Amino acid sequence: MCGIVGYIGDKMAAPFLIDGLKKLEYRGYDSAGIAVIDSADLKVVKSEGKIKILEEKLQGELPKGSLGIGHTRWATHGKPSDVNAHPHEDCTGDFIVVHNGIIENYLEIKEWLEEQGHKFKSETDTEVIPHLIEHYYDGDLFETVKKVVNMLKGSFALGVITKREPDCIIAARKSSPLIVGIGEGENYIASDIPAILQHTRKVYILEDEEMAKITKENIELCKFNGEKVEKEVFEVKWDAIAAEKGGYAHFMLKEIHEQPRAFKDTLTGRLNLEKHEVKLDDIKITRNELEKIEKIFIVACGTAYHAGVVGKYIIEKLCKIPVEVDIASEFRYREPMMDENTLVIIISQSGETADTLAALREAKNKGSRVIAITNVVGSSVAREADDVLYTWAGPEIAVASTKAYSTQLIALTLIALRFAKELGTISHELFDEVAVELKKLPEKADLLLTKEEEIKKLAERYSQVEHLFYIGRGLDYAVALEGALKLKEISYIHAEAYAAGELKHGTLALIVNGTPVIALATQEHLFEKTLSNIKEVKAREAVVIGFAKEGNEEIKKSVDHVFYIPKTHPMLMPILTVIPLQLFAYHAAVARGTDVDKPRNLAKSVTVE
Ligand code: F6R
Repeated sequence: MCGIVGYIGDKMAAPFLIDGLKKLEYRGYDSAGIAVIDSADLKVVKSEGKIKILEEKLQGELPKGSLGIGHTRWATHGKPSDVNAHPHEDCTGDFIVVHNGIIENYLEIKEWLEEQGHKFKSETDTEVIPHLIEHYYDGDLFETVKKVVNMLKGSFALGVITKREPDCIIAARKSSPLIVGIGEGENYIASDIPAILQHTRKVYILEDEEMAKITKENIELCKFNGEKVEKEVFEVKWDAIAAEKGGYAHFMLKEIHEQPRAFKDTLTGRLNLEKHEVKLDDIKITRNELEKIEKIFIVACGTAYHAGVVGKYIIEKLCKIPVEVDIASEFRYREPMMDENTLVIIISQSGETADTLAALREAKNKGSRVIAITNVVGSSVAREADDVLYTWAGPEIAVASTKAYSTQLIALTLIALRFAKELGTISHELFDEVAVELKKLPEKADLLLTKEEEIKKLAERYSQVEHLFYIGRGLDYAVALEGALKLKEISYIHAEAYAAGELKHGTLALIVNGTPVIALATQEHLFEKTLSNIKEVKAREAVVIGFAKEGNEEIKKSVDHVFYIPKTHPMLMPILTVIPLQLFAYHAAVARGTDVDKPRNLAKSVTVE
């Protein structure tokens, strides 16, 4: 997730670009850059780090010119660095591109372009775009970009300029947001509304596979196939703060709603259904090395630890290797038995959590191989691990983790599928079943989000309770842990997650008339057992909210409310089940009037032990 801006008009472009990028910094902030054209003179300035560093590099001498594009980066391909920062250019330096998204087929395009004599400077997927444009340029930038976007697979929002036509910006969108701001004698492009709000409230919102040629007086819209598009102007009514949150009341709610997109991005280019394979480029462990692994540790903190609990079930089931899940702050002090035949999977959204990092170092000291699952390219965990798998969730601003957790589950499933395939511990049928269902997760998550009102009513109804229990078995227990944590941290309601079968060994004593219990019962093979546990709490007059798979009529007879989750492979149910649990916590917190995005006593990145 990166931020794009562009300006064309009579004023100097650079001040708008810098200001617009600052407004988009929440979309990513590991490097930034601008390109400005003044007649035939082109200046590109970019640097690693926040926009402040870029400003320092410009030292108050902003490039002149009233046509320009800018970018703030959240790295996916290629670490944060000056050279990987956008804008990117072709060999001649004439064609300049900023990009948000992921080009899935960039490696094959890059190889082909190299055969044609193109030289690349960066490690990014983006750089193939200006080279392709240079290759096909026939005197008409709009037509050339039209041809090029049809060659690209993946997701992208693009801004393109060239000094050979210093009177237009070309914008194109596929699965990554992009808007065109409409001014008077000047026009803009941006990834998101906050960047342009100070200048105009009139925008065109580009849809998938739409593009635009923007001059200072005119905006021409068409589809990638060339068909003309007529579009209504969208009038922005939000204030600046609401705009940053995409119109949502809180970052947390925005991030919950971003999950379908985050799922798509995390899966992009990694799952090939035709070839029945999982491609994880940065996990270099060989089949030989894998065969020697006798034990896996998953180590993390908080929500990431809860993702690890789900991961244990999936990896053991698919790869037939014993997995232990550890809380990072406990792991290093309990002298875990590790050696070169142990694989350690470290999970960390930020990649900077002190306890997790210390556990990683401990594992490496003992000679174990370390794979990191993280959301931040170039973070400490990513740098120090032997192998990395990025969750392309985009920046998570709310303290309570949502999209990072669900994409960590996808990452763990991808790892399990790939290892199981290499070890020969998974049948073709099971591989295909899980892979097909993984691909369907974005649309199923979308469907779940349409039921937000239903979960909101439930959350409001129970928002004033003091205690709440979450129960489940197997993977339902694993996701119950995360549901309870979400509720505790943002609503301050005391919540406990229990393995449903364990209640009767003590905790059942706490269940009295009216105690709310959220019973997760999505795992079919455990349903009868969970149902017995639901009956145990009902017999003590608990109020039960059941979460079950679509089509399960049986549960209705034993609970007070039921919320249905779309059907998917049982192993993937936690990825969907967590969404209504996040929404439940969110709406309960809003009803209690807490500071949802910044809960008391907590910080987003915990860099102390
Ligand atoms: C809870 C939450 C925390 C983090 C934990 C680890 O919503 O966000 O429990 O999961 O502090 O952080 P990372 O994943 O950055 O290592």
